[in-house]
Amino acid sequence: MARRLVPIAVAGQPRPATLAALPTLSLYVHFPWCLRKCPYCDFNSHEARDGIPEPAYLAALIADLEQSLPAVWGRPVTSVFIGGGTPSLMSADTVDALLAAVRARLTVLPGAEITLEANPGTAEAGRFAAYRSAGVNRLSLGVQSFNPRHLAALGRIHDALEARRAVELALDHFDNVNLDLMYALPGQTLEEARADIRAAAALGTPHLSAYHLTLEPNTAFHRAPPPLPDADLAARMQDAVEETLAWHGYGHYEVSAFARPGEECRHNLNYWLFGDYLGIGAGAHGKLSAPDGIRRQTRPRHPQAYMRAVEGGNAMEEAHAVAAADLPFEFMMNALRLTEGVPARLFAERTGLPPETIRPQLEAAVARGLLDVSAERLAPTALGRRFLNDLLQLFLPERAEV
Ligand SMILES: C[S@@+](CC[C@H](N)C(=O)[O-])C[C@H]1O[C@@H](n2cnc3c(N)ncnc32)[C@H](O)[C@@H]1O
Ligand code: SF4
Repeated sequence: MARRLVPIAVAGQPRPATLAALPTLSLYVHFPWCLRKCPYCDFNSHEARDGIPEPAYLAALIADLEQSLPAVWGRPVTSVFIGGGTPSLMSADTVDALLAAVRARLTVLPGAEITLEANPGTAEAGRFAAYRSAGVNRLSLGVQSFNPRHLAALGRIHDALEARRAVELALDHFDNVNLDLMYALPGQTLEEARADIRAAAALGTPHLSAYHLTLEPNTAFHRAPPPLPDADLAARMQDAVEETLAWHGYGHYEVSAFARPGEECRHNLNYWLFGDYLGIGAGAHGKLSAPDGIRRQTRPRHPQAYMRAVEGGNAMEEAHAVAAADLPFEFMMNALRLTEGVPARLFAERTGLPPETIRPQLEAAVARGLLDVSAERLAPTALGRRFLNDLLQLFLPERAEV
């Protein structure tokens, strides 16, 4: 990959954001309940203490979709992701009704990837088979670890055996299965992290996500931090994860994502390629492009507040146009997570900004050895991947004059 910055020819003067063509559209559906809140988790998930109002929530999701249709009129959907929370708490009948309602209102392209997130503590053969019949073709399992001590420290509702069984069951019913693992866990040694990743690779799921455990604000771990591996040890764990998965034939295509060739997550790739997504459900986010710019939407986080808002005829808590000054950072924050980077033309196509808008930042990143730039591609170097935050900071609006 060339390290030299190749001039990109642009006709005329800088202009405000205008999009010549709309990007690919995907659909995200949020399910906001879990059996128990994990102490490290800041996702919009609520303990289902008084049961889950499943029929009412399904009705709200369908009404939300109806209310959202004018914003995505005529655009086909390339992937659907039902995430949470723990969507596998939903009955197969509800998932079936949800997907039928989506298909009746939107054109879901043939062969679209349809993922559902599942917790190994909720895995049953009958349920997995029924999800598959409902049209789900990819299952994402939150395993986190195979070590009983770490599963207990993470407050997980399943043990290692249940996690293994859930993965095997998922592989029986779905061609594509993802397994989520975390490393740098409380009190974890390098050998323990290596054992976890080897156990995950041995199960042979087509896709694996390995996340560095982070202390997120508003979590129990943030309030009372457990003893965590230091940065040096965590970096060695990350190297062990990458080496083990490379040895097992997984491509490392994004910061935390590994896949067998051709099994990359198409839904997440659409986020990283700065595609569009409609997000329905409590706390769901959406990003939708129009010829005159990009808008972001947010729904109320709390399930009851969300259902009330939908009932009142407007699911949206907030909707705003993204300022042109924020677009370079937003684009790069996604694109530079990809190991291979993105086609150079994508910046202008997706943001509507002329390529020269970011020329000074690209030059600074190349000079610091963080980015490879050619006429064809923008890609982080190995150094840029390791110091991704430093690379991204160059694209923050206040650094525009770098
Ligand atoms: C929304 S959860 C989905 C799965 C399901 N709710 C479960 O936990 O089994 C997505 C994934 O994000 C990861 N994750 C959650 N909190 C994290 C944190 N604080 N640091 C790193 N990864 C985290 C976990 O691997 C988790 O499986
Ligand atoms: S089960 Fe998943 S979404 Fe729910 S609290 Fe735990 S990590 Fe968060």
